[in-house]
Amino acid sequence: MTLIQVDDLKKTFFLGVFRKRVDAVKGVSFAVQSNEIFGFLGPNGSGKTTTIKMLMGLISPTSGQATLFGHPIPSVEAMKKIGFLPESPYIFPYLTPREYIEMCGRLSGLKGSALRDRTTQVMKRTGIEYAGERPVRRLSKGMGQRTALAAALVADPELLVLDEPMSGLDPIGRKEVRDIILGERREGRTVFFSTHILADAESLCDRVTILREGRAVVSGALRDLVRGDVIHTDVTLAGASEALEGQLREGGHEAQRRAGLLVLAVQGQERVNEVLLAAIQGGARVVEVTPRRETLEDLFVRRAIDA
Ligand SMILES: Nc1ncnc2c1ncn2[C@@H]1O[C@H](COP(=O)(O)OP(=O)(O)O)[C@@H](O)[C@H]1O
Ligand SMILES: [Mg+2]
Repeated sequence: MTLIQVDDLKKTFFLGVFRKRVDAVKGVSFAVQSNEIFGFLGPNGSGKTTTIKMLMGLISPTSGQATLFGHPIPSVEAMKKIGFLPESPYIFPYLTPREYIEMCGRLSGLKGSALRDRTTQVMKRTGIEYAGERPVRRLSKGMGQRTALAAALVADPELLVLDEPMSGLDPIGRKEVRDIILGERREGRTVFFSTHILADAESLCDRVTILREGRAVVSGALRDLVRGDVIHTDVTLAGASEALEGQLREGGHEAQRRAGLLVLAVQGQERVNEVLLAAIQGGARVVEVTPRRETLEDLFVRRAIDA
């Protein structure tokens, strides 16, 4: 089932008294199926938040169409099934995380012991239970982020829309958010999330769309996009003589001196042995042999340069 369908969505802003034109989203299309983790990626300013705001009905598109659960946006009906984490969530500073999350749960129709139990449950899941009774204004940015994430989860939504859910978190916090996303999918929910850090998406997503300057430059199933093929092998040598370096260069290997070491980028795995043999015979010591695989980041940079 298609939960989010976006067709050629565009948004143009006109800024300030001179109405300076900003084409924030220049025709983006994608579809999110149920029970997948979909990464909406791209550098800062590429149009992720603007697209998400259009989907959530906070701003209206300049042109194009989109549906949520089959309903054209903006849709109050669809929003009942969606948990939304905005990019910069505002949490009333005089409430505690528990009060804030309960308030969000109450707005979604939860009450009584169900509300209390569910609040405790999502506070545990997002790791803010220990600070649940402190005023939000006394919490760090990361704790605020966890509170807002718990609020997005509280009403047990079918679809989670998370705008930069890892922002403001330390490496452990980022890993915890990744685990939460995986856990939500395991329980049958669908997760649509944005991030500007491609590596955060790589271990997580079934499918991605990568935006650049308001357009999608990469789109597809992650396992088709990043196949884990070895692109080249880095061979690092210590004590390599000029003669050896010359010999390897002549053999067609790219070589670079780094901090006294010679680093070779060997194309083709079948040539690695030949390089190692030459290196040892030439009196060098092998420090490291590292196969390099294409990452989402490499792919994005390649597509961005081609574009
Ligand atoms: N309300 C607005 N008025 C004018 N320009 C905006 C507005 N919101 C976003 N933009 C511009 O649109 C572009 C995309 O922004 P945004 O969607 O926030 O990107 P991302 O979330 O990918 O970092 C940026 O150039 C940004 O400055
Ligand atoms: Mg953003």
